[in-house]
Amino acid sequence: VRVAVFGGAGFIGSHVVSHLVMNPNNHISIFDNFSQGNQLSESDRFRVKIFEGDMTRTTSVKKFISTFDPERIYHLVANSNIADSVDNPDLDYRNTLLSTLSLCEVLPAYPVNELIFASSSAVYAQSLTSVTEMSPMSPISNYGWMKLASEKALKASAMSGNIKRLLIARFPNVTGARLTHGVVFDLVRKLIDNPKDLQVLGDGQQTKPYMLAETLVEIISKILNLSWSESLTLNISSTDRISVQDIVKVILEESGFAPQVHYQTTPYGWKGDVPNYDLDTTLLRSLLPDLKLSSSFDAIRQSVRLSLSSQD
Ligand SMILES: NC(=O)c1ccc[n+]([C@@H]2O[C@H](COP(=O)([O-])OP(=O)(O)OC[C@H]3O[C@@H](n4cnc5c(N)ncnc54)[C@H](O)[C@@H]3O)[C@@H](O)[C@H]2O)c1
Repeated sequence: VRVAVFGGAGFIGSHVVSHLVMNPNNHISIFDNFSQGNQLSESDRFRVKIFEGDMTRTTSVKKFISTFDPERIYHLVANSNIADSVDNPDLDYRNTLLSTLSLCEVLPAYPVNELIFASSSAVYAQSLTSVTEMSPMSPISNYGWMKLASEKALKASAMSGNIKRLLIARFPNVTGARLTHGVVFDLVRKLIDNPKDLQVLGDGQQTKPYMLAETLVEIISKILNLSWSESLTLNISSTDRISVQDIVKVILEESGFAPQVHYQTTPYGWKGDVPNYDLDTTLLRSLLPDLKLSSSFDAIRQSVRLSLSSQD
């Protein structure tokens, strides 16, 4: 299969590539502007065709797609620094939404069999209880709105026949090796810089589901192997949730450091943060009845170990 990965040099993108290279029949190309560096492993770099470009530019997207003629597209490009986009919403208008619109503009001339879109729990209204795919959507961040708008634009493109099968996957918090951002990345880096004091964003009560990127990518691949048509919107999540306080505990256990831990009084890590959410996975489990969902605690422990060992 000819597969194109937009955002393939990023954290999750690099795991998508690692999964795809296991099948020698895959011909993989990636499109990225390398704004978050290059997370592709040394060996994977030799297996993919790399195209450097800005996805907000339709001409670049068109050049890439006409060159590699993909049958399947993963669209993982977005602004991943949600906190920064509070003060600078342009980051989301461009990298989260305009990237999607450029793709939609090019697809009529180059229709594709499958497109997987990396969406987020941020599209839902703020909620403490479990949200299903049908729950009301009313984001509280610029990022969430741009993801929701992207979902709609891609659905319209699929309805016009430009995408045969569209998978809108709403991810939990994703963690693991080769992180470019997120709570584990942030706290481990701060602790290595200053083992005496650890400043935590928010009051530590924020409780969310976490999944390893490689687990997420495997689940997506299993979904693609099923027969479904047109468009599928799917929550992907783990069995449980973990609080930031417990994440801090795991980091201290694994690192052996004993800093003074400083929490803030606000429940939010940043403006627009959804401090508590839970994704209902009934649909996912009905599609893959044999799937054993993983736990957030295990994902965090594994991710902390990987982050600490990459600092050595
Ligand atoms: N990591 C998570 O917890 C999480 C949760 C929900 C959804 N997502 C979504 O998954 C996708 C991948 O996230 P990630 O964590 O790997 O982030 P990431 O920042 O590591 O990856 C995004 C990639 O897109 C590239 N990029 C950004 N703007 C670009 C542009 N204009 N043109 C070309 N390339 C550009 C970056 O260089 C980067 O390689 C994103 O769409 C993100 O919103 C991530």
